[in-house]
Amino acid sequence: MNNNVLYELDSRYISDVLKLRFTPANAVMAEDVYLYDIEEKKYLDMSAGWAVMNLGYSNKTVAEAIKKQIETLSFAGVISCVSKESIELAQKICGLLPGDFEKKVWYGHSGSDANEFVAKMIPYATGRPAILTFEGSYHGQTLGAYAMSGHPSLTAFAKDSSANPKLPYPDYYRDGAGMTPEEYDIKCLDYIENGFFKDKFDPYKVGAIVVEAVQSDGGDIPAGNTFLRGLEKICRKYGMYLIFDEVKIGMGRTGDMFGFEESGVIPDVVIIGKSIGAGLPLSIVAGRSEIMDCATGLHLFTTSGSPVVCAGASAMIDELTGNNIPENARNMGTCLKTELNRLKERCSYIGDVRGRGLLIGTELINNPKDRIPATELAAKVVYRAYELGMICYYTGPASNVIEFTPPLILNEKQAYDAVSILEQAINDAVMGKVPDDKLKNFSGWA
Ligand SMILES: Cc1ncc(COP(=O)(O)O)c(C=O)c1O
Repeated sequence: MNNNVLYELDSRYISDVLKLRFTPANAVMAEDVYLYDIEEKKYLDMSAGWAVMNLGYSNKTVAEAIKKQIETLSFAGVISCVSKESIELAQKICGLLPGDFEKKVWYGHSGSDANEFVAKMIPYATGRPAILTFEGSYHGQTLGAYAMSGHPSLTAFAKDSSANPKLPYPDYYRDGAGMTPEEYDIKCLDYIENGFFKDKFDPYKVGAIVVEAVQSDGGDIPAGNTFLRGLEKICRKYGMYLIFDEVKIGMGRTGDMFGFEESGVIPDVVIIGKSIGAGLPLSIVAGRSEIMDCATGLHLFTTSGSPVVCAGASAMIDELTGNNIPENARNMGTCLKTELNRLKERCSYIGDVRGRGLLIGTELINNPKDRIPATELAAKVVYRAYELGMICYYTGPASNVIEFTPPLILNEKQAYDAVSILEQAINDAVMGKVPDDKLKNFSGWA
């Protein structure tokens, strides 16, 4: 079997509804931070499967924990059976979260079903119909999570999101140009209080604000601490809950265990997904017991809290904390950002480099003066990078931000390799080495 045959079989049997494809990449084996395709070509994985494999692909401790659990108790679903492993994981998660109040957890399988729980829970628990979210945000594919999302790939399908009005997410590069980040944060907060809540929406109809501390699919934009602290104040003032969607940025990626930590705010609820399962399907909502207990059986799935998945996640947390992996993410993030900023100096197609820890966006523009998003170039760069042996994708409402979310065990040499491949990919794409017809099956977010 070769790459082409495998690709043809995928096209024949796997529904397009499930696809967000940028290249014809396949994977049959993985090791450390590398993927191997069926022709044994090696790829530096600067996506980690959309920020899933935070520990990389060969963590022996997690693999052992999963294997041992399958052999001991392969299944006992939380919905009708108590299990040690689900309790142990819940205790660990509650112990990682700040706030001097009782907390509980809920288990699901994806970031989408976790956000869906929030979409159900908040109106139910608060009696307030609305959840405020942000333009550009990606919260998931189920109906409630859809409606909460402000990313163009989802708003195109969500017909009615009147229960989820959207606030503008701070855009420091464009809207905030000419201001300090703090000045811009204050301007954004002022709009919420004195514009949005005065002219557009009654704050007392809002049960919660859901925010990403770094808006990832929205273009990898870290929100300023002033902005997040201001949101916290607004929530306390109007009696709303403050909820962080940490599905993509959580579990060590930003250099802290969670992305909100740097701001010092105390969330009422945190939504966790992707990397928590170390490759197995797991999502968690953790928060104040008073709302987590709002109704028995409100949002349950048969295989929720599987002991196998919980044992893997517990081992994953121990590996993260025991080996200072968030610290490596912080250091390697600084190294990558420094190199990307150097590249920006010699490449006029890079408008902005931003992010936190190992979640970094490189925004491509047509020229520095007008900052028009270089959407087509980004698609070609991602394709060329794949041909050159690196997996990465693009994000942002205009699909022009090259995203790096590698495994958090990345080392310096791999960080330099990534920037060097990116530079060659940009140069090659600009020189026309990626003909339009190569991209015709790969529409990405479109
Ligand atoms: C912030 C955020 N929330 C929720 C989701 C949905 O997660 P899933 O694809 O696991 O349903 C995503 C997916 O990218 C995400 O980035």
